[in-house]
Amino acid sequence: MRSIAIFNNKGGVGKTTLLCNLAAYFAQHMKKHVLVIDADPQCNATQSIVDDDEIERLYEKHKGFTLWDVLDPLIKGKGYVQNLEFHKSEHFGLDLLPGDPRMSLIEDVLASDWLQGTAGDVRGLRTTLVFANLLSRCRNYDYVFFDMGPSLGAINRAVLIASDFFVIPTSIDIFSLLAISNISTGLIKWRKKFGYGLGEVEDHNELEVGNPQWTLRFAGYVTQQYITRRKGGKSRAVKAYERILQKMPRVIYSNIVEKYGGSTDSNVKLGSIPYFHSLVPMSQISHKPIFTLQSQDGVVGAHFSKVREFEEVIAEIAGNLERNCEELS
Ligand SMILES: Nc1ncnc2c1ncn2[C@@H]1O[C@H](COP(=O)(O)OP(=O)(O)OP(=O)(O)O)[C@@H](O)[C@H]1O
Ligand SMILES: [Mg+2]
Repeated sequence: MRSIAIFNNKGGVGKTTLLCNLAAYFAQHMKKHVLVIDADPQCNATQSIVDDDEIERLYEKHKGFTLWDVLDPLIKGKGYVQNLEFHKSEHFGLDLLPGDPRMSLIEDVLASDWLQGTAGDVRGLRTTLVFANLLSRCRNYDYVFFDMGPSLGAINRAVLIASDFFVIPTSIDIFSLLAISNISTGLIKWRKKFGYGLGEVEDHNELEVGNPQWTLRFAGYVTQQYITRRKGGKSRAVKAYERILQKMPRVIYSNIVEKYGGSTDSNVKLGSIPYFHSLVPMSQISHKPIFTLQSQDGVVGAHFSKVREFEEVIAEIAGNLERNCEELS
C-alpha cells in the first residue's frame, strides 16, 4: 500500500479536483484498489464523490461513519477506533472515508497534543499518529489518497506524518511561489520535532503503529495552467504568468528537492492541467470523474474532445506519479 497526500497550504490551487480524478484514474484505468480519505473539514472531495441523497443519509443526524468517528474516540481517551467503515463509490470505482466539518473542532486538540508529543509524551504522540494507525489497517488497498485543507495546521501535519508521499498541486502566481517555501520550512521543522519526540519514548509499542518514523517523500508537482480572472473579467498579464511559470521548476527544486530532500531530482513535474471550463462543475454535479462524463451529464459538441483531452492529461500525471513512487520505494 502506498499513501499519497495531495498537499499545498495555498487554497484553491486544484487539490481536490486533481485528487478525485487521479484516484478514479488509478482505480478505473490502472485497476488499483483505491481508498480516498477526506481530511479537509470543507469536505469538498466527499461532496464531489458522494451522491446527494447519500450525503443526506451520511450527515443527517450524523448517522454515517466519517473521519470524525476515527478521531473522536481517541480524543476522548478511548483509544484507536476498532471498526472502520468506508463508503463505496461506483462512479469513481473506489472507497471513501468521508470527511466531516466537525474535524475543524479537532484542530486545536491535535495542536496541543503535538506540543506534548514533541516533548516525548505518549498520549500526545498517539493522537499525532492517528492517521498512521488508520493506514496500518488499510493495507489491503494499493493506494490511499488524502485530500487536505489549505493550511499548515495540525490535521495536515498528522496526515503528512503518516503518508509515504506528497504531491504539490500549484497554480502559477506569485503567492503560489511563496507558498512553496512555506511548505519546505514547515516540513523540515515538523520532521525535526517529530524525531525528537519519538526519541524520548522508551517503548514504541505503546504507540500502536508498528515502527513510527517520518518517511514522507516528495513525489512531484502539478501546475494548474489556467489563467485566473480579475474583477471585471480581464485576464491577468500573460507575461507575468509566463515569468512565474519559468521560475516554478527552480523554486520547487531549491525548496523541496534540495532543502527538504526525500525525492529524486529529476521528473518531479508530473504534468500540467489546463482550464477545463464547465467540465469541472459538471463532474461535481453529476458526482463522476471528468474523464467519464457523457451526454446525459451535459456534455455536448466540443465538450467531448475536452473530456478526452482531460483523460490524456490525467493519464500522464497518473503514470508519472506511479513511476516516481516506484523509484522512491
Ligand atoms: N482544471 C480546472 N479547470 C477549471 N476549473 C477548475 C480546474 N481545477 C479546479 N477548478 C475549479 O477551481 C476551484 C478550486 O479547485 P479545487 O477545489 O480543486 O481547489 P483546492 O485546492 O482543493 O481548494 P481548497 O484549498 O479550498 O481545498 C473549484 O471551483 C474548481 O471547480
Ligand atoms: Mg480542496
